[in-house]
Amino acid sequence: MAHINIKDKVAIITGAAQGLGEALAKRLDEEGCKVAVCDLNYEGAKKVASQLKNAIAIQLNVTDYEDCEKMAQQVIDQWGTIDLLVSNAGILKSGDIYSLSASDFKLVNDVNLNGYFNTVKAVAPTMLKNKKGSIIQINSKSGKKGSYKNGAYAASKFGGIGLTQSLALEFAEMGVRVNSICPGNLLSSPLWVNSLFKQYAKNQGTTEEKVREHYINQVPMKRGCEYEDIANVMVFLASDLSSYMTGQAINVTGGQQMD
Ligand SMILES: NC(=O)c1ccc[n+]([C@@H]2O[C@H](COP(=O)([O-])OP(=O)(O)OC[C@H]3O[C@@H](n4cnc5c(N)ncnc54)[C@H](O)[C@@H]3O)[C@@H](O)[C@H]2O)c1
Repeated sequence: MAHINIKDKVAIITGAAQGLGEALAKRLDEEGCKVAVCDLNYEGAKKVASQLKNAIAIQLNVTDYEDCEKMAQQVIDQWGTIDLLVSNAGILKSGDIYSLSASDFKLVNDVNLNGYFNTVKAVAPTMLKNKKGSIIQINSKSGKKGSYKNGAYAASKFGGIGLTQSLALEFAEMGVRVNSICPGNLLSSPLWVNSLFKQYAKNQGTTEEKVREHYINQVPMKRGCEYEDIANVMVFLASDLSSYMTGQAINVTGGQQMD
């Protein structure tokens, strides 16, 4: 019987200086991977990498393709290969059609969509040459369904699923699988705790606790998404247990999103 085993795999994770990316980097480390902790925030990436057993920190701006190429080369110089890419770096700038600026729309798409493309383009040739590899994009339930006054983010995440499906077709016969994970609201993440709860409470003239309650009530399982929920699916998609799965965008939303 096959077991989940991703020990000794060389893994790259982007946007790993905090939040979900940091938690996923820690899980990859616990599973025995060699981990390249990549982020625009180099100090944060170094701090995370220093807590792991076999990791390096790399300063990376995913919107810059040359930076992505340098990052891939640095990982190959360090460990000789690349087995796993977790494309997690992402930003959110919300706003209605009046308040969302054209430059913010562009920036969100540049990080969330172009950044995903740039990272895969830099990393995939090694995997294709080896005829093995797993690419996992951290998407969102907003990649499946429009998000109120959050069009830039939803557009970038819908685009990500299009890219996942297209690359999966392109790589399918060459042993490289490409899948997305679509988390629900990670209500304990810095994004929510430091920013969204405060913003929504202010905009709606209510308390942060009421806003939290509102978002929990939207989830059939009546709890927010936790880092571990995503980490478990990431490990499965990284392992050979998912070897017949590619081009999928898997909802991890407590039943909130079903298609
Ligand atoms: N927090 C949520 O509720 C939630 C829900 C669904 C999906 N997601 C997705 O999960 C991923 C992580 O989200 P999070 O909440 O942990 O965000 P976060 O803001 O806490 O962390 C994102 C990290 O990405 C880095 N980053 C930003 N721009 C970058 C760039 N150009 N190049 C490299 N790194 C860059 C930041 O420095 C930061 O460390 C994102 O793709 C997000 O869309 C989050």
